[in-house]
Amino acid sequence: MKKVGLVGWRGMVGSVLMSRMQEEKDFARIQPTFFTTSQAGEAAPNFGVDAGTLQDAFDIEALAAQEIIITAQGGDYTKDVYPRLLAAGWQGYWIDAASSLRMEKDAVIILDPVNGDVIDEALDKEIKTFVGGNCTVSLMLLALGGLFKADLVEWVSVATYQAASGGGARHMRELVTQMGLLRDEVAVELADPASAILDIERKITEKTRSGTLPVDNFGVPLAGGLIPWIDTKLDNGQSREEWKGQAETNKILGIENAAIPVDGLCVRIGALRCHSQAFTIKLKKDVPLPEIEALLAAHNDWVKVIPNDRDITARELTPAAVTGTLSIPVGRLRKLNMGPEYLAAFTVGDQLLWGAAEPLRRMLNILLA
Ligand code: HSE
Repeated sequence: MKKVGLVGWRGMVGSVLMSRMQEEKDFARIQPTFFTTSQAGEAAPNFGVDAGTLQDAFDIEALAAQEIIITAQGGDYTKDVYPRLLAAGWQGYWIDAASSLRMEKDAVIILDPVNGDVIDEALDKEIKTFVGGNCTVSLMLLALGGLFKADLVEWVSVATYQAASGGGARHMRELVTQMGLLRDEVAVELADPASAILDIERKITEKTRSGTLPVDNFGVPLAGGLIPWIDTKLDNGQSREEWKGQAETNKILGIENAAIPVDGLCVRIGALRCHSQAFTIKLKKDVPLPEIEALLAAHNDWVKVIPNDRDITARELTPAAVTGTLSIPVGRLRKLNMGPEYLAAFTVGDQLLWGAAEPLRRMLNILLA
């Protein structure tokens, strides 16, 4: 059995990863060692196998004893530890949830239902660095994979509706706290059916603008509203999140020249852990909708085409329906007024599962096969 080191297993993405590995009985196939940045020497968690004690996540020798390391510890850890491990001559496989190594020449962005061929080729070339993709990009490619595979996509314009979990655990807490404080502000009026709705709205708006909501993580109130900016600003006016759309999509698909343009606006909304995305897709040719639906549905085991029907859409194409599942519904499929090559689509995906943890454990299993 391969020796597998696990770092950052206690954080939010790490916890989702551990729970998926347990569900799929991955621990029965590996010899796990759990690393910690703060509690070396304490008992390791037991996910069905006794893993002894926690090891120091900065102990290069202990890390180098692993054949595979999976980390969800974050980009700063990767930047610090990975070069030192390589300098020590480590030859193992590095599977990383953080973005820091994603665009490195010798790193592959992993999303095997979409780029299993790119991963296999990389393994043949003895590439050892495998990095999970940006969540919106991974979720888009799982939803639209059938169109990319059939080489039907000329370009994609996207508007995202991204959940608080993309920022991290503290962002989620902050959002829920804001929601609670807003609700508390109008508890009396809400309990009285005769109260005026515009009074309720005014009190909510005043509270939102009062400076008393916690905003340490988002910077501004998010509950009841949105923030049309995610991550830092680049020189061309894009946010970094928007830049990733095209850069990572093409890297995942193994397209080196003549990149498929992917661009749009990334927006934070008050969902907890599901990212949603609305697409305008310019197809390379006019393809009938039933054919498009068949291509999408056949691409992978998780995508589910939702009929463009109001009730089914409201039931199945929402964060409420998708949260905590691996399902990737894609719907609102219809041709736009711009012409028969212009397709609308909408998808929802769990940001912590396919958006973060699942590609990592699947890569582990590819290495174990
Ligand atoms: N950057 C993403 C977000 C999450 O903020 O929603 C990480 O892929």
